[in-house]
Amino acid sequence: MGKESIEGRGIKMGNIADIDEFMYSCGLDTLHPGGLEKTDEMARVCKVGEGKSILDVGCGKGVTTCYLARKYGCRVIGVDVSERMISYARELAEKRGLGEKVCFEIIDAHSLPFRDESFDIVIAECTTVLLDKEKAFREFIRVLKPGGYVGDLEMIWRKHPPEELVKKVYEVWGGFKTMTIEEWRKFFKEMGLVGVKAVDFTDEIPDIGKTFIRELGLRGMAKMACKLLLRPDILRAMWEYMGIFREYKDYIGYGYIVGRKI
Ligand SMILES: C[S@@+](CC[C@H](N)C(=O)[O-])C[C@H]1O[C@@H](n2cnc3c(N)ncnc32)[C@H](O)[C@@H]1O
Repeated sequence: MGKESIEGRGIKMGNIADIDEFMYSCGLDTLHPGGLEKTDEMARVCKVGEGKSILDVGCGKGVTTCYLARKYGCRVIGVDVSERMISYARELAEKRGLGEKVCFEIIDAHSLPFRDESFDIVIAECTTVLLDKEKAFREFIRVLKPGGYVGDLEMIWRKHPPEELVKKVYEVWGGFKTMTIEEWRKFFKEMGLVGVKAVDFTDEIPDIGKTFIRELGLRGMAKMACKLLLRPDILRAMWEYMGIFREYKDYIGYGYIVGRKI
């Protein structure tokens, strides 16, 4: 899972972690739809606030982790299975002087080394779709204090996808599996969470490609173009990765789901 640098080795189709890492290395800060604006919206539903303890699962480059700690004055632990992501995240926290408020660890979300009832809030952004959801959610809920919130911001199906699409995203996006917003709501309830709120914000993001381009800016785009000229393997992999958005745009949506532990 993206443990080494992508330089010097070929990108394999299906290794979404390599593509994520490549986009981060070109300057992209977050890899979830809606960026920090949607993070913030979900954080408010989860009652993120001063003094709360938060776990950010699949924290990537640590941007959400640092953002929540700085904006809300809470203590946030970011965990990710990728060494490379955690080292980016630690660099960011140091640059932002957040050493006291955040910490980052290389941890697999399926097996969290934290005591029961340790956190007020557990959040995940664009990560649960890559996990064994039941196993991961059992862990999220175990480490959550009673009354605490789980917030998950994910790509969703806007409508039931054809089998060929389900197979394609599983292969091209490295084990990706998602659900419709109603299925997500049902899943949260089946996991024992209450007060479930499920928000579909697909209509606010008409073109995810343009969103990435805007976020990268001219400098990031130029950097990406130079890197891609030297790495046709990455270019091919990205073309296929982004091609799914182009070909199946009517099926792909974005949303967040929040539930409370009783
Ligand atoms: C699409 S990125 C999202 C990163 C970040 N949440 C963001 O919004 O920018 C998915 C992240 O999940 C991490 N990940 C994948 N499988 C994981 C696992 N089993 N445990 C922890 N993190 C995992 C990847 O390394 C990657 O950083």
